[in-house]
Amino acid sequence: MVTHTPDRQDVSPPRAPRPMRGTPQWAALESHMPALRERTLRELFAAEPDRAATMRISAGELYIDYAKQRVDATGLTLLSAIADAAGIIERREAMFRGERINTTEDRAVLHTALRLPRSASLIVEGADVVAEVHEVLDRMGRFTDRVRAGEHRGATGERLTTVVNIGIGGSDLGPAMASEALRHYSDAGISARFVSNVDPADLTAVLATLDPARTLFIIASKTFSTLETLSNAEVARRWLVDGLGGDESAVARHFVAVSTNAGRVAEFGIDTANMFGFWDWVGGRYSVGSAIGLSLMLRIGRQRFGEFLHGMRLIDEHFRDAPLDRNAPVVLGMLGVLNSELLGAQSRVVLPYSNDLARFPAYLQQLTMESNGKSVRLDGSAVDGSTGEIYWGEPGTNGQHAFYQLLHQGTRLVPADFIGFAEPTDDLLTADGSSMHDLLMANFLAQSQVLALGRTAEEIAAEGTEPGLVPHKVMPGNRPSTTILAPRLTPSVLGQLIALYEHQVLVQGTVWGINPFDQWGVELGKTQAKELLPLITGPGASAPGSDVDGSTAALIDRYRSWRGR
Ligand code: F6P
Repeated sequence: MVTHTPDRQDVSPPRAPRPMRGTPQWAALESHMPALRERTLRELFAAEPDRAATMRISAGELYIDYAKQRVDATGLTLLSAIADAAGIIERREAMFRGERINTTEDRAVLHTALRLPRSASLIVEGADVVAEVHEVLDRMGRFTDRVRAGEHRGATGERLTTVVNIGIGGSDLGPAMASEALRHYSDAGISARFVSNVDPADLTAVLATLDPARTLFIIASKTFSTLETLSNAEVARRWLVDGLGGDESAVARHFVAVSTNAGRVAEFGIDTANMFGFWDWVGGRYSVGSAIGLSLMLRIGRQRFGEFLHGMRLIDEHFRDAPLDRNAPVVLGMLGVLNSELLGAQSRVVLPYSNDLARFPAYLQQLTMESNGKSVRLDGSAVDGSTGEIYWGEPGTNGQHAFYQLLHQGTRLVPADFIGFAEPTDDLLTADGSSMHDLLMANFLAQSQVLALGRTAEEIAAEGTEPGLVPHKVMPGNRPSTTILAPRLTPSVLGQLIALYEHQVLVQGTVWGINPFDQWGVELGKTQAKELLPLITGPGASAPGSDVDGSTAALIDRYRSWRGR
């Protein structure tokens, strides 16, 4: 039995991360910054002949090249010294041990326990969480097998061929992204649809294409109190019952729930025998490896879901075992700190050269921005630098024909993460017999090269360009990027990519001294929406006693009048 205890590293008791600005390690990096700011990537490549060989890490099956980042060997040493001084090792180990490092919610942070093998044991506050995790995985697996084999059928005896996951945020983005990314592994004739928005257009468009007799709904909500999810779930239930001739008992065969809150699931009317649980120590945006991934398991099967979890575990192990300066989440997380805090980067763009990863940037937006979009430290004091990189992105090559102009010649610095695969999930040949995937990957390689090295006025003039056009054609270069190359987009590789970014969040949150695991900033908007609803539907904001601000009141009045109220 593998026992995951803290003895892997010599650690002192966990403590809150230390604010890094003002420390000698931060000061050392700041004094090295003129050297980094002055030297271009062209100069760095010329000065460091072994740059490409040293600035890359293999983690699991991911080949990660950061030689095109604006950093040198000294800078990298200083960055890992900062991570070390911030207490990343203690924080990481406290997380893996299951300590309540999410102090503002008084919870452990144990998404890594979701991917421990059955043979492991992790005792947290008296209970073996690995045994609990595998009990749920086994239940999910048995249910999955029955649905895929046509043993669990709909109320009229039809096979269930479409799964509709109703959830939002972490209860949607992970499974939706992964289901699309792994569409090639869907091998039992089950399609998956995802409904998240409270905008009725979302559910309407999905239901319009479905046959209730063949549809299985998964109501996915950690809290089972989320307005969007419960509203969509209620309408879906009515649609199902109406579509099956008013048979209320059909709900039991067509609805399952995924939640931590059995009480609310029962209140909603789903038998808890049809509920797959998880735990408060799994944050919503870290939950795709929990029962929240049920729609994915139904599509790709339990074995491939196991490979997905295994992929995450490979990176967990790398994160725990690799020295800080060879540790992919530490190096990439710290490069994000360097770019955003000291090189003036405005955001980080994620560019998957894989259409199947189209939703990966959106998934990362919640993972990273809901986690590290904070302005107070764990002790309640204000942060003094910036936090939370802004993530965005689109698959290549679509982005090339949309926003790359700004990446190449704009005034803002936007570091990029390029993600590509050697083997295509699909390939087609062009008229001259060349592989479209090779064409895609040639673009993938060209773009990071151009961002890094650009093209000078002299080089452009030497091509015979008309002098007046030369400044317009200059490609400034010196724009940093990381390239992540993997053999193929498999369930395991997708798991590896997810864990790579999850752990970067912890690294950055530690250096910034904030709590990446709460999300208090989303609450007030929810409360105020509840307060405004009766004004919209009832007397309006101008009614006596309303204390709505003038702008909102006028908008409510206009809305009401256009709604004929
Ligand atoms: O509003 C933000 C949030 O709380 C996310 O953190 C979470 O992933 C999402 O809402 C959905 O929450 P739940 O799974 O409880 O419905």
